[in-house]
Amino acid sequence: MFIEKFKVESPNVVYTETEIQSVYNYQTTELVYEDRNGNYEWVVRPKTVKYEFKTDTHVPKLGVMLVGWGGNNGSTLTGGVVANREGISWATKDKVQQANYFGSLTQASTIRVGSFNGEEIYAPFKSLLPMVNPDDIVFGGWDISDMNLADAMARAKVLDIDLQKQLRPYMESMVPLPGIYDPDFIAANQGSRANNVIKGTKKEQVQQIGKDIREFKEKNKVDKVVVLWTANTERYSNVVVGLNDTMENLLASLERDEAEISPSTLYALACVFENVPFINGSPQNTFVPGFYH
Ligand SMILES: NC(=O)c1ccc[n+]([C@@H]2O[C@H](COP(=O)([O-])OP(=O)(O)OC[C@H]3O[C@@H](n4cnc5c(N)ncnc54)[C@H](O)[C@@H]3O)[C@@H](O)[C@H]2O)c1
Repeated sequence: MFIEKFKVESPNVVYTETEIQSVYNYQTTELVYEDRNGNYEWVVRPKTVKYEFKTDTHVPKLGVMLVGWGGNNGSTLTGGVVANREGISWATKDKVQQANYFGSLTQASTIRVGSFNGEEIYAPFKSLLPMVNPDDIVFGGWDISDMNLADAMARAKVLDIDLQKQLRPYMESMVPLPGIYDPDFIAANQGSRANNVIKGTKKEQVQQIGKDIREFKEKNKVDKVVVLWTANTERYSNVVVGLNDTMENLLASLERDEAEISPSTLYALACVFENVPFINGSPQNTFVPGFYH
């Protein structure tokens, strides 16, 4: 059976006016290598780790700023959300297709929440906690190419042509902000599209990204911003003692305009300064040890 929503009654969960507080005891194991009468042995012990979660019940107006907004991912995500928000349908070779969120973990999947009279009960994933409706997200971001999102969608060649035609009026006015470009960190074939770049020292580039985030927040009247990296994968940056091993050294390296600080690390630093989450969508080592030490 399927239910739309539910409330939890548990000693581990408290609902207040503004938040849901919950405690989760994660049961895992811990291994130790111990001396037992002169013999070293591996010993496995059960271990409980207590996590405390606090979730705001007020769903904020959310802005998502993509690094690499004009790429295949950025233009397809933006077009997909606009198609859903505007209720667009389009002709394919086989049929008329209506926009939907099939394939989205939060919007289209269900989760088993328990049983009722022996029958399994499922609820929408999005009913587990208060969640933003993707239709309400305001998109923005940076790209080293100045192409508007309608042309970027055509360049990406992902969406059906009839859908592209209908999305074009909504996406033509979306133009990425200039990005941080460093040819040392991404493939050489990106050079030809890099016509939209922030000039200046690395410190000035970080300051510009911070300013961009503040202005985006103000202009769109969003409560929260999340930054997501969906630009090209960078090469690993070298982790060097004195350069990027501690936050103090990383900041000093930024002052010295050191070459071995990648663009993704610069965006992430700006996010730390603006108290905004940075999600790394590519597998580079953006978060050098300086972020943790
Ligand atoms: N996490 C995942 O599941 C997942 C899935 C698919 C792709 N990816 C990652 O997403 C990335 C993008 O994929 P895509 O197909 O959209 O590629 P793409 O080449 O179409 O798009 C990348 C965009 O980033 C821009 N760009 C490059 N460096 C930039 C910088 N420093 N600042 C701002 N913009 C910059 C480029 O101009 C381009 O428009 C890939 O590197 C891949 O690693 C991750």
